[in-house]
Amino acid sequence: VFRTSWHYVGHTGMPADPGSYFPARAGGIPIVVTRDAAGTLRALGNVCRHRGAIVCEEPGTGDALRCPYHAWTYGLDGRLRTAPRSGREPHFAPGANSLRELPVGTWGPFIFAAADPAVPPLDEVLADLPDRIAAEGIDVDTLVFRERTHMTYQANWKICIENYLECYHCRVAHPEFARVIDTGPDAYVLTPVDTYSSQYGPVQASHGGSLDTGGAVARSNFHLLYPDTTINIYPGEPNLSIGPVLPSGTGTTDRFLDYFVGPDADEAWIASWMEFDDRVGREDLALVESVQRGMDAALYPDGTLFVDSEELIVGFHDYLRRALG
Ligand code: FES
Ligand SMILES: [Fe+2]
Repeated sequence: VFRTSWHYVGHTGMPADPGSYFPARAGGIPIVVTRDAAGTLRALGNVCRHRGAIVCEEPGTGDALRCPYHAWTYGLDGRLRTAPRSGREPHFAPGANSLRELPVGTWGPFIFAAADPAVPPLDEVLADLPDRIAAEGIDVDTLVFRERTHMTYQANWKICIENYLECYHCRVAHPEFARVIDTGPDAYVLTPVDTYSSQYGPVQASHGGSLDTGGAVARSNFHLLYPDTTINIYPGEPNLSIGPVLPSGTGTTDRFLDYFVGPDADEAWIASWMEFDDRVGREDLALVESVQRGMDAALYPDGTLFVDSEELIVGFHDYLRRALG
């Protein structure tokens, strides 16, 4: 599921200049994304070829990555440059000790990486998702990065993804969200696709909610690029948040979100959008942690899915079955 797929890892402003890098995870795999002196973007396995320490722990600038354990030093192309005392080892072959180069790709400012060189091309996996998002009024090339937020859930990964994929709970558990977005079963659109799934929510005709929905984006849309990259867009001014939901253990999940806005977005609007999204996020945190406690009780062999309202969970289970062969 995680090795053979693409994962959002960061944005093109993170290794902004030639000679910069940042550590990330592609699925569960530690990687370092580099931009070398010529500007070439790479994803490298962030595991030292000596005895396996993590080479890069913090974003930085420079022309080399130095392992903190014994100071083996690699170029930003991954090639081993120096290893202290290697001159005393006649059979040591520096050329055979590069950091592994992994698949990397971009869509607008978004950087994706994969752990397995055999992953299908990024364009093929994104399919028509970029066109869909453009059609919603978002020009990804003009987006401006605002901030990254981090969350940890005391719930397993599957519970978190399933929660993301349905809005059956929205009226009940996200009252403020549901004041703004029409989450009724006839208005809220669920679209399963092979490599991702999408949800579209029209704005309530005359809502008294806290989000000003006047702007280029007419409706909410939430996309999951399988298996873990979520993309969230709210009605109003051009906005987008993107980030992976990744297991950090059998009962814990980590998530980060990079928030972007259009170049002319109003500061007051940005503040209300961030607050609106944060509220929904905190409500979801309580829900998934509740489900984890319920699952831990192991009182029933299985649950019930409503195939109309929870269609995307069914699609996600189909995806998992395919991915697991
Ligand atoms: S593990 Fe990296 S230099 Fe030894
Ligand atoms: Fe939710």
